This record gives sequence, C-alpha cells and structure tokens, in this order.
Amino acid sequence: MRFATTFSEARVVAVRELSRDVREFLIAPQGVVAPWTPGAHIDVSLPLAAGAQTRSYSLVGLAGPHYRIAVKRAENGRGGSRYMHGLAPGDRLMASDPANHFEIDLRRPHYLLVAGGIGVTPILGMAQALARRGADVRAVLAARTRADLLFADEFDAALGERVRHVVSTESMRLAPADQIAELPAGGELYICGPLSLVEAFRRAWTAANRPQELFRTETFGSGGARAAEPFRVRVPALDAAIDVPADMSMLDALAAAGVEVMSDCRRGECGLCAVEVIAASGAIDHRDVFLSEVERRENRRICACVSRVVGGDVSIDTGWRADH
Ligand code: FES
Repeated sequence: MRFATTFSEARVVAVRELSRDVREFLIAPQGVVAPWTPGAHIDVSLPLAAGAQTRSYSLVGLAGPHYRIAVKRAENGRGGSRYMHGLAPGDRLMASDPANHFEIDLRRPHYLLVAGGIGVTPILGMAQALARRGADVRAVLAARTRADLLFADEFDAALGERVRHVVSTESMRLAPADQIAELPAGGELYICGPLSLVEAFRRAWTAANRPQELFRTETFGSGGARAAEPFRVRVPALDAAIDVPADMSMLDALAAAGVEVMSDCRRGECGLCAVEVIAASGAIDHRDVFLSEVERRENRRICACVSRVVGGDVSIDTGWRADH
C-alpha cells in the first residue's frame, strides 16, 4: 500500500560516464518537462526479474529541458542500478513527474551543503540556486578518490572558493565538527551521502547544540553492510512464511504475497514501513536512515522497504489484525 505514483513513458536522450561506476542520464518525458526545485527526485519503474520495481533518483542541477539523473552501479544491490546502466540513448522507461521531499528553505541567513559520493546529486542544484540568489553558502564535496568527485567543475563554477573538496585517499580530513563550527548561528545544514557520513555530521551537529530542525538530510539509504541475499520472513499473525529474493525488497515480497504494509518514500527515510521484529535468526542489515542508532542496535523494528536479513530468517508483526 503506497501513496500513488503515476508513471508515464519517457525516453533516454543521452548517457554520459561520470566516473568508473556512475553514469548520468538525460531523460525526456513524453509530454512537457515538469518544473522542479532543487532537492527534487523522479521515480522510475524498472522491469526487473522479480517484477516491476521503483527506484528514486534525485534530479541534478537546476530545472532544464530534460530530467537529469546520475546512477551509481551497485554490484551488491537489488538490480535497479545494473538495469539503469544497461540503458542507451533512445531506450524507453517509465518515469514519474518530479516530487520534492528535500526542499531547500530559502529564508535562512547561512547554509552549509555537504555531499558525499553519489549524494551530490540533490546538492548541486541547491548550490546553484543559492549562488544565484547571492546567499551565504559553503559546500563540502567528499569522495574516496579525486576521480569519484562528481560534478566538481559545476560546483566550482557556482561557488568558486566556497567549495571544499575532500578526498579520503589523499588523507584529507572531513572534520564535521570544524565544518559545523564555521557555520554561523542560525545556519542550516543540508547533507546527502552515505549513512556513515550523515551520522558523523549528525553527531557533531548534536554535540554542537545546533537545532535539530536545521539539520536537513536525504539519503537513499545505505547500500547495506552485507551483500543482499535471499531470506525468509514469517508473519505469525497471518500464518505466513514468505521468501524474499536477493533482488527484491521485503516490502515488495510481502506485497506480492498479499501482506500489506504501509509505505511512502521506499528509501528508508520516512519510517512508515517500519514493522516490529518478533525474532530473527539472522543479522538485520539496517539500510534505513529513519531508525536511531539505538533502535538499530536493539533490532526491535525493521524498515521493510530497504533493510534486509543476512544469514537467517526474521519473524515480524505488521500490526495488521483480522478485525481491522
Ligand atoms: S517507506 Fe519510508 S522508510 Fe520505508
């Protein structure tokens, strides 16, 4: 059960290699390109082996004549990025209109933008929009190697000296506390990247006594601590045992078996799909950004849209009862 997304046919206009594992796609919908604001994304519906599955991709840069997305190939993922990397100009796919759950608040006096790896995609448009408005904005781009810094030239063009590149293989330190200390009081932080990066900044933000509402994040969940593997989910209240293939989410496997779980973002952000864990014989690989670190350690809930179980099975309670 998901808040409805409408898909229409779209066409791949151009494909460009950005790094060894990231490709940029320009996509033209059949009708007009709907305008979008920085932080927006589109959903695409992909015909994977396990059935049609939805993936969300942030729109890169400012609104233009095409939807511009970048996709990192995840070898251990559920197959969506591998499918996307197989697309060539002229290929068709089903895409939604843009939606924005990561809208920038243009009323702030100061901004710090932090992007790690592929997390740069929603941040570039923010940097460009804020630079155009003459806002007080700084950005930090982090990646493992210099070749993995994406859109660095476009950030430099927008912000010049106000962009810092941090490359871990060159022993550069990200130092979240120092970055936050440079942001004047009342400033807002927008961050997108791997879970570890977001959590490091969140801890430093909290330690600096900054208001939580000024810490804004979007991540597409973590790729997981372990490679995706099949597991079985039991729902004792429904007397059901459902196999979850390696290339399918637990949420989709439950839905395919007729077990409804509420969901919305399907990216591990909103928490709507979090179900109670009754027991687990395997390790829970939490891939969401909704549960707190304490909740992830406790393993009492699991976000069915992204998180998985490795090396065993899990029993859950979806909250559904026959008298509902
Ligand atoms: S649907 Fe939003 S966290 Fe799963």
